[in-house]
Amino acid sequence: MKHFINLKDIPSKDLKKIIIDAKRRKNLRKKLSTLEVDKGAPLKGKLLIQMFEKSSLRTRLSFYLAIKQLGGGTLTLRSNELHLGQGGESIADTAKILSTYGDGFMLRTDSDKKVENFRKYLSIPVINGLSPSSHPTQVLSDVFTVEEIKKKPISKLNICWIGDSNNVLESLISASVKFSFKLSIGCPRKFEPSTKVKNWVKKNKKKIFIYNDPKKAASNADVIFSDKVISLNDKVHKKKKIAQFKKFKIDKKLMRSAKKNCIFLHCLPRGNEVSDDIFLGNKSHVWQQALNRVHVQKSILLYCFGKLR
Ligand code: CP
Ligand code: NVA
Repeated sequence: MKHFINLKDIPSKDLKKIIIDAKRRKNLRKKLSTLEVDKGAPLKGKLLIQMFEKSSLRTRLSFYLAIKQLGGGTLTLRSNELHLGQGGESIADTAKILSTYGDGFMLRTDSDKKVENFRKYLSIPVINGLSPSSHPTQVLSDVFTVEEIKKKPISKLNICWIGDSNNVLESLISASVKFSFKLSIGCPRKFEPSTKVKNWVKKNKKKIFIYNDPKKAASNADVIFSDKVISLNDKVHKKKKIAQFKKFKIDKKLMRSAKKNCIFLHCLPRGNEVSDDIFLGNKSHVWQQALNRVHVQKSILLYCFGKLR
């Protein structure tokens, strides 16, 4: 049984296989409409249970479409509607029941420990749909989007992140090691990736490049990524943190430091970290990026269900 919790724990060859399958499947369903099922309905009869402890638009919808297009179904739970969320039932017993009724479990939570506990007690695959330290389905899908737009392996591109050292960046750092691409990060000194993350990169004999000057980070970039300054799990002084990121706003001037054909990507939802003209302009591919989550998550589901060819 395969879980999909952190990119750093998944072998590179498996991640690459998922991307190849997603490309093939996306191509094959060009003429199919939203809810038509892929040929062979590989997940026919399977139920994915999704549980959200935090808000979600894209992850919820993209997993719904992903499992439907593979011939299966999904049920979405809010933890506060369960006994678990009221403190009335343990993770162990909840997990046992989820494993009895369902075939896979996708969880969005503000506790990495909870993801681990569910993994311990479930006898069905767990997919991390965002936790404080990881957003693996988003970032694997973003690798797919970059290669689709740039028509090159991501290992041949300069990738830049301008923004907070959050869950999405942590997964992007893992991806930079797994896919061997150059990653330059632009953020205030106070918001650099943690020593634990930096040490993990070193242990894997790879390098990430951190700058406290956004122009230096963006220099020669093929892709600039960003995300909200304030994440769902952030318990900070919001106004103060936003002010500390003021000079890291992605605007026309900053984009000029990157390559001429540099593209802009953002997992969404957005805050004020990017100007409207860049976000809505021709360098931005954020809508294609959002839609690609359906395609990549289908291959992630097949991987977890042991059906990836
Ligand atoms: N990008 C992303 O995960 O969006 P949601 O929070 O809307 O799911
Ligand atoms: N870093 C953001 C991502 C949202 C999809 C958050 O955790 O809120």
